[in-house]
Amino acid sequence: IMKKKDLSNEKSHQLEDHTTDNSDQALTTNQGLKINNNQDSLKSGERGPSLLEDFILREKITHFDHERIPERIVHARGSGAHGTFKLNRSLAKYTKAKFLSEEGKETPVFVRFSTVAGSAGSTDLARDVRGFAIKFYTEEGNYDLVGNNIPVFFIQDAMKFPDLVHAVKPEPDNAIPQAASAHDTFWDFISLMPESMHMIMWAMSDRAIPRSYRMMEGFGVHTFKFINEAGKMHFVKFHFKPKLGVHSVAWDEATKISGKDPDFHRRDLWDAIENGSFPEWDFGVQIIPEEDEHRFDFDLLDPTKLVPEEEVPVELVGTLTLNRNPDNFFAETEQIAFHPGHLVPGIDFSNDPLLQGRLFSYTDTQLSRLGSPNFHEIPINRSINTVHNNQRDGHMRQQISKGKVSYEPNSIGGGCPFQAMWKDGGFASQEERVDGHKVRARSQSFVDHYSQAKLFYNSQSAPEKKHLQNALIFELSKVTIPAIRERVVGQLAFIDKDLAALVAKKVGVEVTELEQPNGSIPADADPK
Ligand code: HEM
Repeated sequence: IMKKKDLSNEKSHQLEDHTTDNSDQALTTNQGLKINNNQDSLKSGERGPSLLEDFILREKITHFDHERIPERIVHARGSGAHGTFKLNRSLAKYTKAKFLSEEGKETPVFVRFSTVAGSAGSTDLARDVRGFAIKFYTEEGNYDLVGNNIPVFFIQDAMKFPDLVHAVKPEPDNAIPQAASAHDTFWDFISLMPESMHMIMWAMSDRAIPRSYRMMEGFGVHTFKFINEAGKMHFVKFHFKPKLGVHSVAWDEATKISGKDPDFHRRDLWDAIENGSFPEWDFGVQIIPEEDEHRFDFDLLDPTKLVPEEEVPVELVGTLTLNRNPDNFFAETEQIAFHPGHLVPGIDFSNDPLLQGRLFSYTDTQLSRLGSPNFHEIPINRSINTVHNNQRDGHMRQQISKGKVSYEPNSIGGGCPFQAMWKDGGFASQEERVDGHKVRARSQSFVDHYSQAKLFYNSQSAPEKKHLQNALIFELSKVTIPAIRERVVGQLAFIDKDLAALVAKKVGVEVTELEQPNGSIPADADPK
């Protein structure tokens, strides 16, 4: 069993400088003053009123009053751990990212798993997608892979994300339901968004009620790009496969566990790591040459589609191991700030319109969640690379940058960093020819919403199919508006007629034929 602190890991070493141990220490104020009575406030007489001058009481209560920060707008409920990523096979042929080039190289990581819809105090066993976010502390800067345990997403364009989240979160009038998706607004939205049907099949399957965080797959979801030393680009899809296999609980178990131990997944992860039974995943990539961009019968930029492993096998090239629990949940798990745009040279994002919107969203939300443009200085967010730039000031600035100059060009010198060339590790976006009309529209190549949904449904074994059917019946039976149930069933009919008929019968509606696809895709709309 690894000792609690492995200081050979550069990130642990850096965090250690910010870690305190209170045992056998005198209690102090925030100014370091030793306190001799932590039981009683300062009063005017033993039974008299408290004195305003009691700066010790004031400091203690004021700090307590400000303990809470906003929870994440999505993925509020989560658990995290430290670990290591080890590269077993070099990907230098495809990417110049150092942590993916040098065989045997180990990179410190912090991983946070989460549910999406529930608040920070909600149950771990809700039927939901699970977040699978990894921060790699590489020597070239932080690289974040902010993925999920399901390889596709509900929507194709970031424009719809606030609508999706408003539909899935508790309804605004009564704040019900807190965690599950079984309600009118969610299914109303889904029934009007045929692009969500592939992901709905996954979300209604056993994948959405994992047995343990240690037994889930992780996916980057979007198509990303690898760029090698010579500047050649390949498309890439990221995968994590749990060494323990993929396992789920049954819905009946999930509801019982939720009642008995809402911290079930959090406890499971913590205990496994404390007991030295370190969770492990194989890291794999699907590599697609640039020339093959249009080889598939779907668009690589469409996040509601996956690249079938039979067409492009997953090459396993690394191992992710979680081996240390955080010392402090708030300081580490809560304050960590992931962002799909935190890249290193050799990795770039694609033009996936969902991913493009995410690139704006994360820093924006973290500015209000963590409250300062200097949140990158919080120990868990710090790069192991020293940060050098001309940014300065702002709330809670920690770094003390020396020198007179914080602009460039300048002729005074002293304190001004220089730009790094690509060959010296400077990041450069992959050069790409882009031209077209400015249009608010969606590509025709995004229009098939049912083929992969069908493939997924048909890939399920008989008991898995039964679970999926029962999930749909349970969820839709909670929907109070019959027209919504009917529209969802109409969507299911495009996937599997028997499934639609069964669900319709159980939730008391008819299978009616919908137009395919319905009006939510303005793909052939005249932009003028
Ligand atoms: C968290 C936005 C799609 C995975 C978040 C947060 C926001 C957000 C605002 C909270 C971040 C924070 O407070 O630190 C969006 C937007 C999306 C989108 C605008 C689409 C346009 C996705 C997709 C995935 C994903 C497709 C998976 C591939 C995650 C994960 C977290 C997260 C894992 C939790 C990170 C953590 O553990 O701190 N997202 N998201 N999101 N998102 Fe997204």
